[in-house]
Amino acid sequence: MKKYYESTDAINVVAPRAYYIPFSNREDAFKQRKESDRLLYLNGEWKIREYASVLDVEDDFFAVTPEDKIEVPSCVQYYGYDHFQYTNINYPFPFDPPFVPNENPCYHYQRFFTVKKSGKQYLNFEGVDSCFYLYLNDKFVGFSQISHRVSEFDITDFLIDGENKIDVLVLKWCAGSYLEDQDKLRFTGIFRDVYILTRPNGHIVDYKVETDAVGRVKFTLLGGEEATVTLLAESKTVKAGETVEFKIENPVLWSAENPYLYDLYIEHNGEVIGEKVGVRTTEVKDGLYLFNGEPIKLRGVNRHDFNCKTGATVTVENIIEDLTLMKKLNVNAIRTSHYPNMPEFYQLCDRYGFYVIDESDLETHGTQACEYESQWAIDKYDLIMANPLFEKGILERQICNVTRDKNRPCVIMWSLGNESGYGDNLEKAVKWVRANDTRPVHYESINVERKTERAFGYYYNAELDVVSRMYPSVEWMRDEYLPDEKQTRPLVLCEYCHAMGNGPGDFKAYWDLINSSDRLMGAFTWEWADHGVLYGDKGLRYGGDFGETLHDGNFCMDGIITADRRLTQKSMEMKKIYEPVVFEKKDGELKITSRQFFAPIVARLTVTYKDMGKVVGEESTVVGIEPRKSVTLPVKDAHVTIVSLTLVTDCGLLKAGQEIAREGYTEKVNIVSDLAEGKTEIAEKGRYITANGKDVEWTLDKANASVCSIKKNGKELLYTPLSLAVWRAPTDNDRNVRVEWENLRYNEMFSEVREVAVKGNTVEFTGVLATVKLVPAVKYTLKYTFGANGFTAEIDSERRETNKYLPRLGFETKLCKCFDKVSYYGYGSNEAYIDRRISCVKDCYEDTVSNMMVHYVKPQENGSHYGTEVMEITNGTDTVRVEGDFSFSALPYSAQTLTKTAHDWELPESDGTYLNVDYAMAGIGSNSCGPKLDEKFETPRKVAGKLTFIIK
Ligand code: GAL
Ligand code: MG
Repeated sequence: MKKYYESTDAINVVAPRAYYIPFSNREDAFKQRKESDRLLYLNGEWKIREYASVLDVEDDFFAVTPEDKIEVPSCVQYYGYDHFQYTNINYPFPFDPPFVPNENPCYHYQRFFTVKKSGKQYLNFEGVDSCFYLYLNDKFVGFSQISHRVSEFDITDFLIDGENKIDVLVLKWCAGSYLEDQDKLRFTGIFRDVYILTRPNGHIVDYKVETDAVGRVKFTLLGGEEATVTLLAESKTVKAGETVEFKIENPVLWSAENPYLYDLYIEHNGEVIGEKVGVRTTEVKDGLYLFNGEPIKLRGVNRHDFNCKTGATVTVENIIEDLTLMKKLNVNAIRTSHYPNMPEFYQLCDRYGFYVIDESDLETHGTQACEYESQWAIDKYDLIMANPLFEKGILERQICNVTRDKNRPCVIMWSLGNESGYGDNLEKAVKWVRANDTRPVHYESINVERKTERAFGYYYNAELDVVSRMYPSVEWMRDEYLPDEKQTRPLVLCEYCHAMGNGPGDFKAYWDLINSSDRLMGAFTWEWADHGVLYGDKGLRYGGDFGETLHDGNFCMDGIITADRRLTQKSMEMKKIYEPVVFEKKDGELKITSRQFFAPIVARLTVTYKDMGKVVGEESTVVGIEPRKSVTLPVKDAHVTIVSLTLVTDCGLLKAGQEIAREGYTEKVNIVSDLAEGKTEIAEKGRYITANGKDVEWTLDKANASVCSIKKNGKELLYTPLSLAVWRAPTDNDRNVRVEWENLRYNEMFSEVREVAVKGNTVEFTGVLATVKLVPAVKYTLKYTFGANGFTAEIDSERRETNKYLPRLGFETKLCKCFDKVSYYGYGSNEAYIDRRISCVKDCYEDTVSNMMVHYVKPQENGSHYGTEVMEITNGTDTVRVEGDFSFSALPYSAQTLTKTAHDWELPESDGTYLNVDYAMAGIGSNSCGPKLDEKFETPRKVAGKLTFIIK
């Protein structure tokens, strides 16, 4: 066995070609590929044997029959081999290119199959991680790598009529692994389909279909003898190297809004290939990105081919499920981060309508972390890009991607890869892409932050059509990119709004700007789904849960939907910002403007009028809105008006009735306070002060200004004092500020009273919030004023100027678990923070404590409701009511428990209801990877406010 795995070469793999599956007759040409009588799947049960090291493998390993079984396609880690490992940037092996560890696990796969010899026969592997040696009937056929490429082998001369034996040796690592350092779980195996194609001698090999705006369809036969091509009943014959042209009169253009496809038949020697043709153009012109001539917006997500139960192995059904959820969330664009997806993915995107940025299988991010001293050193970024050893391998990755997917109308732009620096190797690769296709070319890692002259040169002059950035701030886009006259290319955010845990809080800020300028093409949320692993008897797991020492924890849990494909409250935030319409309500009129460019919107508009939670009227009508146009309808006045657009008929993946857009309008109302006047008796007893109302007695603690007891008719309601609190369980987006919070010991902050003044029915405390070791962080006065059934708590506080902002400032208490029913008038029903509530409407809601908890896999702050004016929590008999202007949460766990628990499934049984009522609560942002929280969403340095607590 030669050490091919120490080079980036492939051996005896036939040249890449466009993806297609031939059929035997026209009627079948557009059926699912499994219907083709020319395709024989080798999926299913194989035998498998693991070797701890490739060096243990005997030269005639294929003579041995492995004992274990495995289902193909799959990842070996899900069969108990090797171990799961999640790393983001770091290479999980020594950085010593092109060498990979000698302890390189490998897997001998074997099976038998029966085939009839006929014409030419090809064996196709659609994905093998990381490389493999192929043997047929004990003869070496070839070697391939590039995990996400299709490797095709001509096996005509190796096959025998009847039963054949196939042996595949898959290695975990190869030189190509240096080019596959994507942020992902590191899987191994034959993870995509394997099949044999039986074809005639002298068959079609490769072809290209190109279209333009006026309906010309050009067909070029790139390889093969000859083909007869038929479009709309017109047939033409073409020889290799030739082009024929068709003209569609009044073509229906393809777009994500109207994915109209024409059938093209390509025939030769008894084979028929069905191609779906979308007539469309995609280009960058005069500084703008134009699709069919229009400056469309890409409302995108980054998607990995990933499934929590099968890893890198996904099915067509899995993809359709994702695409359906994306349509529900108004997504119109997908970046195939960070490698080509399954071939069928693109056909589905053609069919259902998604704009795709198709990315090559390339990332060398670990170069930045390969030297301890220069962690994240930008100058190390280009290590592989400048290394001649990798020139061919990098070029090959572009060739595989572009060649395979070139005929897909959904592919609007090529992406050269991700986070690989920039250098000669990539420049050569981009030249090849340009010479072979007209689509715009995207690549991000020419970063403006790389201040070297060379990098700056690239930023302005690189051979790329668009400027791409990940996680820039809105300020950078507004103040640096847009006014920069030297920069003439449009901007796309290939990643933004890092959707890790509770977040992201900045969709609106980004889109207010993106919608304001045609130079901003749109943005792709990082990322579509969490990469949690369901394996074994535990719940979803992430990095570090498998005994790996090098890992990146829960950084793989950063999807806008869950790993097991559930929509979340954050999904609804994205859905809202990606709505295809804009609502404006003014002076008794509702104006609905379509953001679409090509297809009219026909939908049912339902207007619901509510008064303090009660529906008082409803109107509904079907509206038709032409692209870029508006319709205006009369609406009535109400406390809350909710407008909703739903589909009237099934539409692609969506069913009639699906809501596509929704907005709520809330008029200010005066909340009638339930606080009753009445004489309160205040008495001081040593450390404590008691206040007696009607049937209620409160006790205040002079040590810390808490309400340490509330008794109703003699019965204690509080499990723990209602006391000042600043801590929230850090969200993933708090991961940076958290370090400062913990240095400042905000997680152990307590209240110290310095002065107490009792006057009539008021008690005023002056004090500080402090921790051991440090100068107090906050000075406050807290004034309680008692009535017959409750009290007000007025705070006036000031944080030290040099201290970081507080997570929040408010009260917390623990109540009996039986306090489980909540009603509130505030932003809901989704969790709402100052910067994360565009999907929420300020309205009256009823909910339960268990339902209000949002189960992030890594527990964290959740379930808060910003802008609340009234909240009541009850056990059926006793009710605590809060009035004011506040955020609150009522959860089964304390901030401390949520802070210290690593997985949702590790949370203990709840021991009470934890009520948090906040004068102020910091925003959420997206700083897990994005810019730091906008200052205007920090908890202010001075917090003043008044809360009313009533016991009923
Ligand atoms: C980006 C990268 C993604 C992912 C993300 C963090 O830098 O392109 O692959 O790692 O950060 O989740
Ligand atoms: Mg990376």
